[in-house]
Amino acid sequence: MLENKKIGFFITGGIAAYKMAELARMLIRRGAQVRVVMTQHAQEFITPLTFQVLTKHPVLIDTFDESTPACVQHVAMADWCDLALVCPATANILAKMAHGIADDVVSTCLLATSCPRLIVPAMNVNMYGNVATQRNIEQLRQDGYEVMEPDEGFLAEGYEGKGRLPELEAIVEMVEMVLAQAEFPQVLAGKRVVITAGGTRERIDPVRYITNDSSGKMGYALAQTAAWLGAQVDLISTTHQLAEPANCQMHFVESAQEMADTIKDCFSHADIAVMAAAVSDYRVANQADQKIKKQVGQLGLILELVENPDILAYLGKNKKRHQTVIGFAAETSNLLEYAHDKLTRKNADWIVANDVSQKGSGFNSDTNQVTLISRMGQDYPLPQMSKQQTALSIWQIIMTQV
Ligand code: CTP
Repeated sequence: MLENKKIGFFITGGIAAYKMAELARMLIRRGAQVRVVMTQHAQEFITPLTFQVLTKHPVLIDTFDESTPACVQHVAMADWCDLALVCPATANILAKMAHGIADDVVSTCLLATSCPRLIVPAMNVNMYGNVATQRNIEQLRQDGYEVMEPDEGFLAEGYEGKGRLPELEAIVEMVEMVLAQAEFPQVLAGKRVVITAGGTRERIDPVRYITNDSSGKMGYALAQTAAWLGAQVDLISTTHQLAEPANCQMHFVESAQEMADTIKDCFSHADIAVMAAAVSDYRVANQADQKIKKQVGQLGLILELVENPDILAYLGKNKKRHQTVIGFAAETSNLLEYAHDKLTRKNADWIVANDVSQKGSGFNSDTNQVTLISRMGQDYPLPQMSKQQTALSIWQIIMTQV
């Protein structure tokens, strides 16, 4: 999403400014071009030279440094941006932006931007909670700015409170989200989507479990792109290893039973349900409360397994009303035959079939090659692509048929 995107990076004078070198690097690593504009106060925390070296572009620090006669620097900079990122945003810049004040290089430049704008406030808990700051944030949201919520936690002042800069990964996710919403038609606007992701864990005892190779990447890609296309997303996940997609409501679960209980609540108000999780077909009949000790001299240990609920089949056959229900078929042989069988057996509307034995397809890989199977009898084979591109294609095909 960030490949060749032009990001105007506006840094103001809060202590979190020291983290911005790493944020610039993360954006650049994902393919973005980054140009930095800094207030004088930001330069108290980190130098323009740091950003010049990292971004390979001069840093704008003075409105009247008009060294290029062919253009007016702050206007040229504003026109260049695909996205303006204001991070960290102090209470001062929020107040100026909310009131259209342009009295330094950052506020002047921002007033001239017409691209999507993402503001990431970070400050002391009391400054953030101040009624004036909250009024300014509300005003900015009404004016069409995207404003991230700060995190709660340990502040530079030495005490806990709301005002911390969100994790850098979460900021990058939000940058992608704002750019994507501006770029893609919002085909899922007004839709509620529930997605399951990851391999379930079935406990044997408090320290051991049965699971599978699913990484959750495909489910996360579907959730991220659904949010990009305007959906309200509930993501039911068994994994904590992946970055949480922006604007998705997270529900963390472990076992198939927990997943079944959680999806029931979300499903009733969903328009689309996607079961991308690899759900264990069986669970241990008698889960031990304490760690199972090795029995010396015993030849082996027999675990008795009982069947788990088939969540997709239950939703497809008993709960589906207006909802579109999408399942996955991860197979190592007879792909299309098994996928068609699952579509009918579980009363799904679509099955995403992928041969997990192929290189670059399925579990843990960053790419996938799937065939989308419709209950209308049509198959849509897709080429091997990143999981993100695969997810976007899935949404595009499904939304032309719904
Ligand atoms: N699924 C489910 N609940 C289960 C098992 C599977 O909801 N207990 C869903 C998966 O999330 C997936 C689809 O059903 O969307 C197919 O999963 P898969 O494990 O391939 O199906 P099974 O019916 O278990 O068939 P198999 O014999 O291939 O394991």
